[in-house]
Amino acid sequence: MSAQNVTVIGLQWGDEGKGKVVDALAHRCTYVVRYCGGANAGHTVTVGGQRFALHLIPCGILHSHVHNIVGNGIVFDPPTALKEIAGLRERGVHVEGDNLHVSGAAHVVMPWHKLQDTLSEAALGAAKIGTTARGIGPCYSDKAARTTAVRVADLLDESVLREKVLRIVDVKNRIFAALYDAQPLDAQAIAAEYADYGRQLAPLVCNTSAMLRRAVLGGERILFEGGQGSMLDLDHGTFPFVTSSSVTACGVPGGAGVPPCSLGQVVGVMKAYNTRVGAGPFPTEQDNDTGNRIRERGKEYGTTTGRPRRCGWLDAFAVRYAADLSGVSEIALSLLDVLSGFDEIKVCVGYRKNGQDVEDFDPVGLDGVECVYETLPGWKEELTGCQRFTDLPPAAQRYVTRIEELVGRPVGLIGVGPGRENTIIHLTRVQGLS
Ligand code: GDP
Ligand code: IMO
Ligand code: MG
Repeated sequence: MSAQNVTVIGLQWGDEGKGKVVDALAHRCTYVVRYCGGANAGHTVTVGGQRFALHLIPCGILHSHVHNIVGNGIVFDPPTALKEIAGLRERGVHVEGDNLHVSGAAHVVMPWHKLQDTLSEAALGAAKIGTTARGIGPCYSDKAARTTAVRVADLLDESVLREKVLRIVDVKNRIFAALYDAQPLDAQAIAAEYADYGRQLAPLVCNTSAMLRRAVLGGERILFEGGQGSMLDLDHGTFPFVTSSSVTACGVPGGAGVPPCSLGQVVGVMKAYNTRVGAGPFPTEQDNDTGNRIRERGKEYGTTTGRPRRCGWLDAFAVRYAADLSGVSEIALSLLDVLSGFDEIKVCVGYRKNGQDVEDFDPVGLDGVECVYETLPGWKEELTGCQRFTDLPPAAQRYVTRIEELVGRPVGLIGVGPGRENTIIHLTRVQGLS
C-alpha cells in the first residue's frame, strides 16, 4: 500500500539538504506534508538562481499543482508563517487556501514559548542546548501538559482564545517572575493579536489528516517532508541536545495522521560530511583547518539563525544507525562538491570505547567514544558540472560506493551544487525519477 509515496528525512543533525531533495521529488506528487518541528527548520531551495528559505511552509509550494500541508504534529508560529507567506507572494508564488492547508490540531507557538526558550537558555549558561529560540521545546511541553496549550483551531474563535490566553498568561507570568524575575506579559494584547492572526489564517485551516487519509485511499501521491535530522530526534537522538519532536520516519504517522503503511519509499538525506548547530556530542567534529575549510566551501551557516555550523568528517556509523531506525530505502547524498580539493578524506566507520569496539551505535553512550577512521583518496576537480555518475572523478565515485557499503543502502541521488539542476540521478527507485 502507498508504494508511490515518498518520505524524505535527515540522517544527521539537520540541514542535510532536505529542501533541495523535496523540491526535486515534489513535481510528481499531489501532496507535500510537514509533520514535525516548526520554524526551527530552514529548508533551502534554489531555482533559477533564486534562493528560497522555507521555515513553516512545505517546499512543495514552489510547484503550482501541489497541495501543501502543515500537519497536526507541527508547532505553528502564526506571525512567522504569515511573514513567510507574504514573502512568497511578493516573489510571485501562489499561496492561498487552495494550495496551503494548516491543521486545526497543530499547536500554536505563543509569545510565552519564545520568551521561555530565550530565558531558559540564558539561565542555563554553559549548559544550554543552543536552541533556535523559536519556542519549540516550550510549545511541545505545553502540548504534553494539555491544560496550557493553544491549538490552531482555537485562534478561530475569539472568545475561546481570549479565555485560554487570560488563564495561561496568568500562570506563565507567575512562573516567569519567580524563575527569571521577568516582566509580566499583557494577556489582553496577546489575545487581540492572535485573534487577528486567526482571521488571516482562517481560509487555510482544515482537517488535514482527514484530507490525507482520503488521499491515501485514493492512491494519490504524497511526499512527507521531514524537519531536523535523526540525531536530533527527541527519543533516538543525542538527548538532551535534541529538538522536542519525533523527526524520523517513525514520526510521520503521528505527525500527519496517516496509517504507518503510508510512508512509501524512505529517502534518507545525508551530507558527504557532518555538521551540527548548537551544543552536544559530535564525535567526528574537526574544530581545525579541515572544519573551517568545509564550513567555507559548504557555506555552512544556519538557514534559520545564521549561526556558523560545527563541521567534521562523515560519521557513517551514526548514519547507518539513523538509516536502520527509519527503514531508509535509499540515500540522497548532498554537498559532495564541497569535498573537492582535499588530498585525503576520512570517514568514521565505527567507535571504540574503553579499548573495545562498540557494537551498536548508542546515542546514550557517546561520552568518551573514539572514532575509527578509514582514509580514502580525495579529488581535485570541481563537481558542479557533473550530470552523470560516470562524470565524477574516480575517487569521488569510489567515495560514493564506499558510503553505500557502509550505510547499507544505494545512493539514489547525488547533490553536486545548490541548484535544482545540480543533482545526479543515480540508483534511485523513486517512481518518476528512476
Ligand atoms: P535542510 O534544512 O536539510 O533543507 O538544509 P538547509 O537548506 O538548511 O542547508 C543545506 C544547504 O546546502 C543550503 O544552503 C542548500 O542550498 C545547500 N545545498 C543543498 N544541496 C547541495 C549540494 O549538493 N551542493 C551544494 N554546494 N550545496 C547544497
Ligand atoms: P532543519 O529542518 C539544524 C537544533 C538546534 C539545537 C536543537 C534544539 O533545517 O534541518 P530547537 O530550537 O529545536 O529546540 O533546538 O536542534 N535544530 C536544528 N539544527 N537544522 C534544523 O532544522 C534544526 N532544528 C533544530 O540548533 O541544537
Ligand atoms: Mg536547515
